[in-house]
Amino acid sequence: MSALPGSYEGAATTGLDDSPVEARPQVLADLPPLTAQHEAEAAEIMARYPQARSALLPMLHLVQSVQGYVSPEGVGFCARLLGLTKAEVGAVATFYTMYKRHPTGRHLVSVCTNTLCAVLGGQRIYDAVSADLGVGHDQTAADGSITLEHAECLAACDYAPVVTVDYEFYDQQDVDSAMALVAALRRGEKPLPTRGAPLTDFRGISRQLAGFSQHRDAAEHRAAVDGPSAGIPTLIGVRLAAERGEQAPPIDEAAAAEAEVGTPAPEAPTPGSTGTQRAGDATVAAATNPAEESGARQVHTDAPEPAGRQPAERGAEGTDTPPTGPGAGTNSSVEREV
Ligand code: FES
Repeated sequence: MSALPGSYEGAATTGLDDSPVEARPQVLADLPPLTAQHEAEAAEIMARYPQARSALLPMLHLVQSVQGYVSPEGVGFCARLLGLTKAEVGAVATFYTMYKRHPTGRHLVSVCTNTLCAVLGGQRIYDAVSADLGVGHDQTAADGSITLEHAECLAACDYAPVVTVDYEFYDQQDVDSAMALVAALRRGEKPLPTRGAPLTDFRGISRQLAGFSQHRDAAEHRAAVDGPSAGIPTLIGVRLAAERGEQAPPIDEAAAAEAEVGTPAPEAPTPGSTGTQRAGDATVAAATNPAEESGARQVHTDAPEPAGRQPAERGAEGTDTPPTGPGAGTNSSVEREV
């Protein structure tokens, strides 16, 4: 019998991870096998990269699209096709939270409980959904409908508190709306996300992450990919700028090129006026309102150092190269004296 996570013995290791794994025979019994078709799809993924091993991440998503998690069979599948050890595959699979170590329910519900979402109600949402499903973090409801997890920042703080289902966004949730969302999912419905592509399910989104379309044809795929991705909170700064007639200062491309590290200046700098300083001068001069001018002055190379920070002394920037030769390798003068 296998001695890997998800095995029926229930406690084993994948790679470097040795945490106990809860066996769920009722889910594992339905595990579809990885077939020759999946090997062909894996070969397709591998062909996208100059080195086959670079295909490991999408291949792990492919495994999840078939079996709902990175199974022991999936670890062996990737290792065999990529010429890696199972330990190497397991080390990668256990590093990233998007790779699941237990069979996942039909949908993965992630509730952001990071700072901004938490203070706006994310923790209350998580607690309510957890109580309703009768499961905690990284656990699956008894009916197999939903795996729940609390998540760190989902990069949608402007829509806090945020819930994702299979990585699609449901913005500005509260306890009632999140509970209604979960109830709909358990009835087999697929409520439209606030933005982005329509909802599929965990195996479906895993297939997309492996680089395969879930849609019937190119037009349907395009329509999903081109779904609305930005909403009012994201665009509010743009709207306010338009109402006030503000715009970003024009880019002085010649000055920007000079300021870029490693780009040779077209002419020798005159004393007191380096290319970087001229770029700063140009940005200040181009400011069209006091706020822009203030911001440009603060990042100007001639701006005073912030309080408490001292300019680096000549030759003291960065980390010194360790000395070589006699005495090298000791940690400090104190150690040498001892
Ligand atoms: S803190 Fe929740 S999305 Fe950033």
